[in-house]
Amino acid sequence: MFNKIKKINVLDRNKINYAELDKELKVELAILGGLDIFTSAHIIGVANNTQKICEAMDLDYETTKQCMLSAYLHDVGKIKIPSAILQKQERLTEEEYEIMKMHTIYGYEIVMGYDQFKYLAPIVRGHHENLDGSGYPDGLTDKEITEETKLIKIADIYDALTQKRQYKEGFAKSEAVEIILEDIRKGKTGAKYLYFLLISVIKELQETYNGDVTEYQKTKQDIETLKELDKIYKQIYDRGYTSSLSKKLDRYELAPGYDMTTNSNLLSRNISKLESLEKKLAEEKSEIEKLTWQSKEAYKLIKRREWNVKIFGKNAI
Ligand SMILES: [Fe+2]
Ligand SMILES: [Fe+2]
Repeated sequence: MFNKIKKINVLDRNKINYAELDKELKVELAILGGLDIFTSAHIIGVANNTQKICEAMDLDYETTKQCMLSAYLHDVGKIKIPSAILQKQERLTEEEYEIMKMHTIYGYEIVMGYDQFKYLAPIVRGHHENLDGSGYPDGLTDKEITEETKLIKIADIYDALTQKRQYKEGFAKSEAVEIILEDIRKGKTGAKYLYFLLISVIKELQETYNGDVTEYQKTKQDIETLKELDKIYKQIYDRGYTSSLSKKLDRYELAPGYDMTTNSNLLSRNISKLESLEKKLAEEKSEIEKLTWQSKEAYKLIKRREWNVKIFGKNAI
């Protein structure tokens, strides 16, 4: 018995090469031919969010692949929706909204047309369903909605809320999460996949923040150097070129043609860079704090039952 346990390499699960997986998916999806699903910013965004959730959950290769394929396919039915409705910038009329909702059914029909993707059809059909039965097209409830569908739904809403479009500004990450948390409190959506998405989003934002801190410190140092150089140039301007001032300049190993004007331009450019970095860091810090609080909130909202439901594999659907 113990021998068997020893043979399991737990580290293997972490070794999903996402770039390779993405290539593999694109080869499989190439069968869709004329259906261009890779140029839409939304689809790419949903696929990225899906990958983040799968990664944070440490899901196995097959399940991750299944979820990623679903992300790419979830809105495929939109190709049958008139572009006047798809691209409409104002609020849709009730009638137009009813037509828009049909993309779930059209998508289901398209996916059912491919033997290798048939098993994903319920996810494509169900990605706008709500746990309380208020979604569409079938008004399914919690137990009737597959785990993968719930996962894709979170990836989908989060992208729709955060992505900037030609006609609208995206919400800040924490604002988008607040909207999703509202849906969770109303019983429309589960909290589990939002929680895992948040783990990934916070980690990524923390990395960006750390990178920006390094950039901030470097810029600060650069400004010090440029200020020292500015002082030397001013002395040269006042007293003329002396051998000691020229020696001081030599220490900086300046490029040929570098002069007082170049220096003062660089200095003012770096000062404004520092100011915008300061602003960016403050925003990132506040976002990290808000998102961390929200992830704790999402964790509290996860029902014990949600933890226990396993993601079903290809054969279980
Ligand atoms: Fe959709
Ligand atoms: Fe979508």
